[in-house]
Amino acid sequence: MSSLASFDVDGKRVFLRCDLNVPLKDGAIKDDGRIKASLPTIQLLQSKGASLIIAAHLGRPKGQPSPELSLAPVAKRLGELLGQEIIFAADLMGDALSALAHSLKAGQILLLENIRFNPAETSKDESERGVFAAQLALLADAYVGDGFGAVHRKHASVFDLPKLLPHCAGLLVAVEVEVLKKLTQNPTRPYGVVLGGAKVSDKLGVIENLLGKVDMLAVGGGMVFTFLAAQGKEIGTSLVEKDMIDVVKTLITTAHEKGVTLVLPTDIVVAPMFSADAQSTLVSSDAIPANQMGLDIGPISAAAFAQQIEKCATVFWNGPMGVFEFANFAAGTRVVATALTKVSGISVVGGGDSAAAVRALGFTDSEFGYISTGGGASLEYLEGKELPGLVALGL
Ligand code: 3PG
Repeated sequence: MSSLASFDVDGKRVFLRCDLNVPLKDGAIKDDGRIKASLPTIQLLQSKGASLIIAAHLGRPKGQPSPELSLAPVAKRLGELLGQEIIFAADLMGDALSALAHSLKAGQILLLENIRFNPAETSKDESERGVFAAQLALLADAYVGDGFGAVHRKHASVFDLPKLLPHCAGLLVAVEVEVLKKLTQNPTRPYGVVLGGAKVSDKLGVIENLLGKVDMLAVGGGMVFTFLAAQGKEIGTSLVEKDMIDVVKTLITTAHEKGVTLVLPTDIVVAPMFSADAQSTLVSSDAIPANQMGLDIGPISAAAFAQQIEKCATVFWNGPMGVFEFANFAAGTRVVATALTKVSGISVVGGGDSAAAVRALGFTDSEFGYISTGGGASLEYLEGKELPGLVALGL
């Protein structure tokens, strides 16, 4: 596979798959990190004489156009960042789109509407995806895959389309893979992973895989209550996946057998309800009241997590420690983020949500070793899974 630097795109129309899946609130972009992360590839392609047809998704519209998931606000922000007009195509196929694509001049950018508005993009039916990919292929002369956050999806614009055109990985995908390789191929030890977020079930595969590789695993966030329940503790009304309790018991035993330091919170910030202004109380993780729910790890736990993190030479973190969107329950995530900024080796913040969390808490990207744009994608990479979007690019 050629690198983007030597990929011939002069005078060509390049179909560029990006991950522009940014958090939106009332139509406003809350964190434009993924748009900014896409700029180097866009600008390199422009400097090499290409015109661009950019495709991306926003949310999970289930194959139906839905106005609140339009990429129009992203087109506006991309135009601001690049200082040029972005031509926005509301249709994902048809003669008008084809004419628009073929009229592009070098340097011009056509952004397609949310590619998931077409049900074929995410279809499980290979031939349905193939037909859509073949239509998209007619728009362009070459394909560049740079949507790292979506490479774990076997979708038409990620997996099927690159097979139909000369293709190459974008700069973002190349950097993401290079960083994740440092975590999977002989990481400098001690190697620690910090996981948070709501569900154990989303992270089961990665935990199972990591237990054979890491020296330290710290768990916080909503998923930790399934761990506490597995230890036989009362967890009140906290989030729990009851059907995962036995699986988590096995994970705890495996961690012990493999000599992995498993760090779980010993104090918890609880509240009677899930609300920004709920009255918070600090309790021991052995004494969560029956009518309260855990919404953050406590300060003793956060300090213990930080101490473990700072001892590591390689750290990967995915998932907030608590409900960081509410100021009263953001402290645990803040302490963990601060500890990551102090790691002397490599620290990687994985995931769109975790990246948005650290930025929302006032950290800058440069304080961390690397902020991955991929949530599920980086986790599946660490899990050792084959990622369709990377396979299609020959990576
Ligand atoms: C993400 O936000 O992790 C990526 O954009 C992929 O989105 P998806 O989980 O909806 O496929």
